[in-house]
Amino acid sequence: MTEVVGFGALNLDKIYSVDKIPRADEEGFVKDVKLYPGGSAANTIVGLARLNIKTAYIGKVGSDEEARILLADFEREGVETTLIVRAEGRSGNAMIFVDEKGNRAILVDPGVNDTLRYDEIDIEGARKYRLVHLTSFICKNGLDSLESQKKIVEEFEYVSFDPGMPYAERGLEDMKKIIENTTIFLPSRQEIEILFGMNYREAAEECLQMGVEVVAVKLGSGGCWIRNRDREVRVKPLTVRVVDTTGAGDAFNAGFIYGFLKEKDLEECGKFGNLVASHCIQRFGARDGLPRLSELSL
Ligand SMILES: Nc1ncnc2c1ncn2[C@@H]1O[C@H](COP(=O)(O)OP(=O)(O)OP(=O)(O)O)[C@@H](O)[C@H]1O
Ligand SMILES: [Mg+2]
Repeated sequence: MTEVVGFGALNLDKIYSVDKIPRADEEGFVKDVKLYPGGSAANTIVGLARLNIKTAYIGKVGSDEEARILLADFEREGVETTLIVRAEGRSGNAMIFVDEKGNRAILVDPGVNDTLRYDEIDIEGARKYRLVHLTSFICKNGLDSLESQKKIVEEFEYVSFDPGMPYAERGLEDMKKIIENTTIFLPSRQEIEILFGMNYREAAEECLQMGVEVVAVKLGSGGCWIRNRDREVRVKPLTVRVVDTTGAGDAFNAGFIYGFLKEKDLEECGKFGNLVASHCIQRFGARDGLPRLSELSL
């Protein structure tokens, strides 16, 4: 059995440095543009690939330059791309405009992300992986991808799930099927409290009753809190110089899943999560700081 397959959105973030953010009928000028491949599950999968875990991705891209960049980036990281569906249309992307004062304006284009039907997925190919890691789709262009996730959870020995705000806001009824099939639940504190409408400790108890094995709640600068049937543990974060927390949660997931696959105990898994996240937040962007195994003193 190979190891982890991610299933979530694929986005290319384009960060434009501009002289000003124009209003209607105004004109601005682009000084520079930088491209950052993203998508929450995709960031976690790249984190795992850098820790020498065998990885693949289930997602959908269009037939455009963005698709080529997203796929080439995965290939550079050693992530298997054969389960990614190539369709007509645009790949998911976001245009982020940043002016000289640091003001931002963002236009998100979900593209084909939300339209991945179950019958388009190579299930036999996906089932070679031991664990599937799920994150949210925006669901602006339909529910196909979410419906496919609800179906695919039954096919795997292990499921890890980070709902993000988009799925937390959809409510428990809609997420029930996925949660009931989840092995490792990886919400932030705010997400689990919104999803269950109660404090995170009580919500974690509910999760266990629904069949989840491990609940790891991300507490930002407070580290994390983890619960399984037998025990609970709070793991303090590392003290580091924070540059940018984009993707901290995704990096945490990579470390935590790595610990789980290596059969570490709850506290060790939490420490790995905090450690990988601490590397991520010392660099700009979601992926630049993701460490290689050789950089970690494990
Ligand atoms: N200021 C910080 N110092 C040290 N570690 C931090 C800090 N902020 C975040 N982390 C680490 O990153 C992890 C994830 O952060 P956070 O709780 O903000 O996740 P999240 O809300 O899912 O983030 P994201 O916006 O990336 O989805 C934390 O559990 C912790 O390990
Ligand atoms: Mg998160």
